[in-house]
Amino acid sequence: MNTGPDEAIKEEIRSRADIAKVIGRYVQLQGKGTSLKGLCPFHKEKTPSFHVNALKGFFHCFGCGKGGDVFNFLQEIENISFFEALKLLADETGVQLRSQERVFIDEKSGVQISKTELLRIHEIAAKFYYSMIKSSPEAIQYLKSRGLSAEIVRDFRLGFAPPGWTSLIDHCKKFGISVSTLIAGGLAIDKDNGNGYDRFRNRVIFSLFDLSGKVIGFAGRGMSEKEQPKYLNSPETILYRKKELLYGLCMARQAIKENGYVIVVEGYMDYLALFQSGIKNVVAVSGTAFTEEHAHLLKRFTNKIILIFDGDAAGQTAAKRAVEVLAPVEVDMSILILPDDEDPDEFIKRAGPDAFLELIKTARHWIPFIIEKVSSEFDISTPFGKSSAVTNLEPLLNIIKDPIVAQSFKKELAEKIGLDEKILYTKSHNNRYNYKSLNLESSGRVEVPDEEKFLMSLEGRFLSILLTTPEYIAEASQYVVPETLTDSVSSDIYSFILDTYEDTGSLDTILDHCDDQVLKRLITSLLVRNSCPDHVHEELVQKIIHLREKYLRVRIRDAKLKMKSEPHRRAELLKEMQDFTTQLQELQRG
Ligand code: CTP
Ligand code: MN
Repeated sequence: MNTGPDEAIKEEIRSRADIAKVIGRYVQLQGKGTSLKGLCPFHKEKTPSFHVNALKGFFHCFGCGKGGDVFNFLQEIENISFFEALKLLADETGVQLRSQERVFIDEKSGVQISKTELLRIHEIAAKFYYSMIKSSPEAIQYLKSRGLSAEIVRDFRLGFAPPGWTSLIDHCKKFGISVSTLIAGGLAIDKDNGNGYDRFRNRVIFSLFDLSGKVIGFAGRGMSEKEQPKYLNSPETILYRKKELLYGLCMARQAIKENGYVIVVEGYMDYLALFQSGIKNVVAVSGTAFTEEHAHLLKRFTNKIILIFDGDAAGQTAAKRAVEVLAPVEVDMSILILPDDEDPDEFIKRAGPDAFLELIKTARHWIPFIIEKVSSEFDISTPFGKSSAVTNLEPLLNIIKDPIVAQSFKKELAEKIGLDEKILYTKSHNNRYNYKSLNLESSGRVEVPDEEKFLMSLEGRFLSILLTTPEYIAEASQYVVPETLTDSVSSDIYSFILDTYEDTGSLDTILDHCDDQVLKRLITSLLVRNSCPDHVHEELVQKIIHLREKYLRVRIRDAKLKMKSEPHRRAELLKEMQDFTTQLQELQRG
C-alpha cells in the first residue's frame, strides 16, 4: 500500500526547513557557515562529535553513529513518528499538507480507499460484531466463562462474528461498502473474481484501538480447541501495524501516568482480566513479540516498563529476546516471569489483584535478570564457562549506549561470575564488533562489514594474528578450517591465507595474489593492525577456542532449525546436534 506522503511535499519541507535552526534548539552548535558541530544529544560525550551539514541538510554523530535528515532528528529526539515530524515541520515552514484525505491504494486489488473510509468501515464492523453477541448463546456463554463483565464487553467493544460466510459482507452492503473494499481493508478474504468471504467467522471479537480510541482492526478468538488458529488477527493495513500497536494503551494511558509505570502482558485476555480487577496501567502486545517501536511508544507515557512473561520455555526465550531488543532503547525495564505456567489472567483469577501487585514487586531489573539467565546456561565455576558467559553477553553489552548503564552492567556481571571487573573492560574493548551485522548463515557473499568493527572482532583478530605472524598458521590450521569461520568474508580470507601460505611458504606476496578488491582492502587493514607481540600466542589460542565454540553454536542452532523444516531427517539431525553439544561441552571443560 502506498502510505507515504507525497515525495514532492517531503522534499519541499526538507529544503525549506533550516536544519541548523531546528537542531540548534536542542544542541549548542559551534562553527561557522554550513559546517557545525556540538555535543551529541543521543549519547553522553565530553568532546563534540556530532556534526551538522546545514548545506546538505543532514547530521551525523561520529560517536554513536546516529545520523540522517531533519525529519530523522526530530523523530529521534522527540520520540515521534515520521508523520508527526512532518507535521511539525510543515507548520514551521508553512507547507500545506493534504495528508488526512489522501487516498491509499491497495496494491493487490488496486482498490482506492482513504483512511477516513477505512475507519468508518471498522466502526460499522465493531458495532455489527457487538450487536451479534446476543444472537449466539455460545458466545454469551464463552464471554461469561472467561469472567468478563458486561461493562468490559461494552467498553472494550468485544463482539461476535457469526458463523456464516458473508455476514459482515451482507451487513456492509447496506452501507454501500463493496466486497473489494472490505478485502482491501482486511475484513474479508479474496476468493476470486471480486468475490470474497468474511475473514472472521464464528469467533469472539476483540476490537483493536488506536491511541484516540478509534477501532483500527480486530482479533478473533476461536471458542473451542478445534478452532485453529486460536487467535486470528487483522492483517496489516494502513490503520493497523502490529509492531506499533499496544492493545488497550488508549484506555490505560491515564493510569500509566498516575502509577508511573506500565505493565506489558502477552494476551488480550490477560489485559482485560487485569483491567477488570482494577489494575489499569496495562497494555498487551498484539500477535507479535514486544518491539523497539512499542518501547518508543511507551516512552511517551512512562520510562518504567514491567514485562510479564509466562513461566514456560517460550516465555523464557521471549523474555531474553525482549531484553536484547530493548537494551539500546534506554528504558527502565524489568522482567517478571510468572511461576507455575500460569498466565496473568489465570493468576489474577486465582489469587486476586493484591497478590498480583505483590508479585509485580518481585520483577527483576533487566540487567541482573539477563546476567543470571545467561550465567545459568554455563558452568561459571570453570574459566571457560566464565569466558563463554561473558562472550555470550558481549553483543548485548556493546549495544548499551549509556556508559553509566554499561558500567553497572559490567560491575554486576563481574560480581556474578567472580571476575575482576577490569578484565571485562579489556575484553569488551577487544570485541566491539556487533556479530549481528554479519549474516551467520550466509549463503554466498555477505555485505562488507564495518571495517573498524571487523578488525576488532573475534574473526578479525584471529586473521590479523595469522597475517602478522604466519609462523602460527600451521598450528591454527590443525584446529580451524575455513568452515569454522561462520561468516563468509572471514572464511574467504582464511582460505586465501591458507592457500597462499601453502603455495609460497610465506604471506609476503599475499596482496599481489588477491584480485578481489573487497578482500584486498580488508587484508590490508588487517595487516596494518599491530598485535601485542608479547601475548600473541596466548591470544591466538584463546581465539581458536572461541571460534570453535561459536562454530559449534551455529551448527547446533542450524540443526535445530532444520529439524523443523526437514522433519524426515530428524533422527540424523538429532544425532548431529548431540555430537556438537558434546564437543561444545568438552571445549568448555577445557
Ligand atoms: N496470539 C496470536 N495468534 C495465535 C495465538 C496467540 O496472535 N494463534 C497472540 C494473541 O495476541 C494472544 C497472545 O498471543 O492474546 C497470547 O496467546 P496465548 O498465550 O496462546 O493465549 P492467552 O493469551 O492465554 O489466550 P487465552 O487466555 O484466550 O487462551
Ligand atoms: Mn490465557
